[in-house]
This record gives sequence, C-alpha cells and structure tokens, in this order.
Amino acid sequence: MEIKNVRNFCIISHIDHGKSTLADRFLEITQTVSKEKMHPQFLDMMDLEREKGITIKMQPVRMVWRRDNAEFILNLIDTPGHVDFSYEVSRGMSAVEGAILLVDATKGIQAQTLANLELAQKEGLVIIPAVNKIDLPQAQIEETQSEIAKILNIQKEDVFRISAKKGINVENLLLEVIKKIPPPKGSLKLPFKALIFDSKYDPYLGVIAYVRVFDGKVKKDEFVYIVQQNLAIKVKEVGWFLPQLKKTDVLEAGEIGYIALGVKDPSKIRIGQTIVQTEFKEQIKPLPGYKEPKPVVFASIFPEKTTNWLNLKEALERLKLNDSALFFEPETRSMLGKGFRCGFLGVLHAEITVERLKREFGLELIVTSPSVVYKILTKDNREILVYSPKDWPHYSQIQKIYERFAEVKIIVPQKFLSNVLVLIQNKNPIFKTLGERVVLELEMPLREVIIGFYDKLKSVSEGYASMDYRLLDWREADLVKLEFLIGGRVEESLSKIVPRDLAQKEAQKMVELLKENIPPQQFSLPIQARVEGRIIARRDIKARKKDVLAPLYGGDYTRKLKLLERQKRGKKRLKERGQVSIPDEVFWKIIKMSG
Ligand code: GTP
Repeated sequence: MEIKNVRNFCIISHIDHGKSTLADRFLEITQTVSKEKMHPQFLDMMDLEREKGITIKMQPVRMVWRRDNAEFILNLIDTPGHVDFSYEVSRGMSAVEGAILLVDATKGIQAQTLANLELAQKEGLVIIPAVNKIDLPQAQIEETQSEIAKILNIQKEDVFRISAKKGINVENLLLEVIKKIPPPKGSLKLPFKALIFDSKYDPYLGVIAYVRVFDGKVKKDEFVYIVQQNLAIKVKEVGWFLPQLKKTDVLEAGEIGYIALGVKDPSKIRIGQTIVQTEFKEQIKPLPGYKEPKPVVFASIFPEKTTNWLNLKEALERLKLNDSALFFEPETRSMLGKGFRCGFLGVLHAEITVERLKREFGLELIVTSPSVVYKILTKDNREILVYSPKDWPHYSQIQKIYERFAEVKIIVPQKFLSNVLVLIQNKNPIFKTLGERVVLELEMPLREVIIGFYDKLKSVSEGYASMDYRLLDWREADLVKLEFLIGGRVEESLSKIVPRDLAQKEAQKMVELLKENIPPQQFSLPIQARVEGRIIARRDIKARKKDVLAPLYGGDYTRKLKLLERQKRGKKRLKERGQVSIPDEVFWKIIKMSG
C-alpha cells in the first residue's frame, strides 16, 4: 500500500440529510459490498439504528477503488447527525483529513450542519460541499448551493449537486475526494504510533481498539504500549473494516483499522489514548486525545432483579467501550436496591443506551426519569448537587436553587418563524438571516432545552427548524418538585423539577398524559399531582374490568384477601414499574412529551 494513495474522510451533515445513503453508493461504486448484499443504510450496523432510521455509532469502512491504473484506499467514517451524538462525530474527525459536507436541498443548512462544520474546520479538515436530494421536486438546489457557498466563502458552482439515492453525480464526488483531500501525513520509517478513536468488546478477542495509525506499522504478536494506561500488550490481531472486521497482516501509517488487544477488562482501555511501539514508549509523545464529554442529563438505572447488579455493571463497562460519552457510578435506593446513576449527552442518548443495555445484554431494567443537575444552597448553608428529583431536599430546607443555562441556536425558515416564536416566548432571541431562513440565538435553562424542546421545535416547524446548544453558567431559579401519585403512591420515576409558576399547568398536563397513556388496570386508579405537600391536580383511570372488590362491600374479609391475592399474582406477570405497569414505550413518550 502506498500512503500517497490513501484518503481518509468522513461525511458530516444534519440528521437525515443522507449520509448513510451516500455511503451506500460509495460502497457500490468501489464494489466493497456486492449488489446482492446491499441494503439501504448499510453502515448502520445496529438493528436499533435501522429501526429508528438514525445513525447512533460512527462506522468506519475501508474501500478499495481502482481508477486509471491506480488503486486508492478510501477510508470512510460514517457519523451520526443528531446533536446527542456529536461526540462521535468529533472523534471520527480526528482520524481523517477531509469531510464531505452534505446538505439536503429540501431543507437547506440546519443547526447541526453548522455545528459539525465548525468542528471540521477546527480540526483543519478539507471540506468538500455537496447538495443532496436534487432528484426531489421540492429541492431548492440553487438556493442551497448559494447558502453553502456563502458560509464557506467559495463559488456557488464549486458546491456539488448530487442525489445519493439515485446515484446522480456521486462518482464525480468520490473523484473529488481523491483530488482535493490530501493523503495522510506520517511515515513508515518512524516507530508505530496510533490513536484509539473508538472501541468495542468481543467475547473472543477482548477489547478491540479502532485506530488511526499515524506512524510506523503494527502486526499480530508484536508488543504495543498504551501510553496513558502504562500498559504493555501483545497484539492478538490487526485488521480492517469492510465494514465487518477483516484480519490482515499489517496496519501501516495513514491507515484506519482495528487492533484486537486481548484485554478482558474493558476499564483498562479508554478512547482517545495513544498506542505506541513498546521499545519507544519513552520517546514518543502521546497524541492530544479527546476532552471528556460532560454529561448533561442524568437518570438512574436499576436491574429489575437485584441479583443482576453485577451483570448490569459489566454491561455498562462494555457499553462504555463503545460509547465513551456514557458516565455511570453506583447508587443505592431503598425501593429499587443497587443500581447506577448514569449521565448522558441528551434524552435520546439516554433512551438509546437503555435500549442497547436491554437488547445487547438481555437485561431487564427499571429507569428513572431523566433530569438535569441542579445546585441547591440549603438553609444550613451547604451547597449540594442534585442529579435526580428524588434527591431534591424537603422544601423547608431550601435557601436558594441554581440551574444551568444554555445558549441555543435555532435555524428556521421564515414561514415557521411565528410558530417558533410562540414556543420561545419571552426569551428575547437575537435574529440573523441566512438566505430564506432565520437564525435565532437565545438563552434558556438547560432543563427546557434537554427535555422535549427538540421534539416541539420539530413539530411546530413541520420538521424544518433545527437546533444546537452549548452550556452556559449557573443561574438562580424558583423551582419546585412536582410529584405524581398513582393509586395513592408516589411514582418517583415521574417526579420532575418545574418552575413554581408553571407547576399547576404542568401538573394538569401530566395527569392528562398519564391518564391517556397508562393502560387501565383491574382497579380504578387515581392519578394525582403534588407540590410541597399539596395535591394540585387529579384524574382517575377507570378500571379495565369490574373492580374485584366492588361487590364485597367491605364485609367478607377473607374473600377480599383471596381476591386481592389472585389479583396480585396476575399483576406480577405484568412487567411492572413501581406500583402500576407503565410500558416502556409509554414511559419514554411521557418523558419526552412532558418536557
Ligand atoms: P442520520 O445518520 O440519522 O443523521 O441520517 P443520514 O444523514 O445518514 O440520512 P439517511 O442516509 O439515513 O437518509 C435519510 C432519508 O433520506 C432516507 O429516507 C433516505 O432514503 C433519504 N435520502 C437520502 N438521500 C436521498 C436522495 O438523494 N434523494 C432522495 N429522494 N432521498 C434521499
């Protein structure tokens, strides 16, 4: 392999603008995947990604393209588009020299397009812009080209027009990758040095590190050294992504591939660490690696059977290898037993993680409602961080409450501007124009940004508005804990922190939502909302069948017990969350809709 014929690149865009579809065409053109084996969004390897139609994990693939008597090695990293997974994108970028910036011609530039472009420019990547979906009748090709040209400061004609779905102009775009993106720097003569940009666990090979080799080469059975970990390891296997793992003899400077480290303890390896040739471990300076992402949403996860705690711990450790943004630490609660307090980059990240724990590790879990972190000054002048509504101090103990603010950037077509302004009432946005669209910049509590806001924004703009945010400082706030009682018992997983003046409205909305979404039980079920000891809203769910106790007028006590016992057994068969069975999908729906 000649390093001058290697190109490493990624595709960046807003969610759904067509990255995975474009990657499919590249796989076909380079005959990496045969026509029979091809299926849409081929690089979305997880069932979950296909079901949800979104990319969650970055996925590298090595393509060999024979053109004009030369053989090019094209390493592509497909990255996610959703804001919750931007850490994946930034890691992918540190392993490549260039990026295709893809923009949907029916949507134009959106918030994540800009956010990802900024990241790519910071990494110093060569950008190749392209407008996608030109086959659609509603495509605004010229306008989108102009928008992109303006932000990149280039000629409109230099923005490619393609249809990833139909394959129009895609081959030319790939030729441009070869022409414009430089081959990797690095030298085969220097000692081996590589960056771990991702990893996963394999039962046979142990930890598999996804690496970008910067210098030298590495082979099976050689000794390598993980600098930040002070760990020497004999390499078990090296290989490429086709996109499935394919063993090879050697990985060389400039390449993207994997190194099976044979390490069985996932906590020994961290993404962002540098692997070097052991003999030169003192001389080689480690690569800068990555800044640890800061979790912004917290939820606690408990195994349904307390005996499964160790399995959950192992599952979280393995998942962290593959999702380094995941944070967790042990936690014990009286009702739920031993579990973990977990930190995520957003609600979608939380949802996906729980789903992966269940599917990939076969675990049955109880999950509390996601929450941001609050800072509370107690009456006795202690400052505490509260990660979950359940740890909210009694209202008589609170002196001051602080919450994190975020700076939010929203891009919205003029047509939907008024709807969006209703959504962000009283937030005093700064307006800028971007062609036919408006960019709004505003500050709001992270609590509002994280839960439900993205979905609401999508719905008021028919999917055309997009957003991105960054964290700001702590600010004082007047908040209260809103609790829900289902059948007279507090359902702690639904408790939430809300502004005092919105508590009543929120309580009404939530009891309605709960009433509509909790399936009727065998008994009639009151749903109540409580703030600072007072019930402020109530709705009742009627019994599915006749109340088993109704005919007994409280007289026949033993029969009553028997009936209750029978009912209890029946209920046990249902998967329960607390006292009442709330199906998982309903739980997430309520969390998202109630934001
Ligand atoms: P995320 O990874 O989740 O951010 O999405 P993505 O950017 O990978 O988008 P994906 O390739 O999944 O495409 C999103 C949708 O757009 C799919 O339904 C595609 O079939 C469709 N699509 C992609 N490219 C084109 C195109 O050129 N023309 C048309 N008509 N549809 C396209």
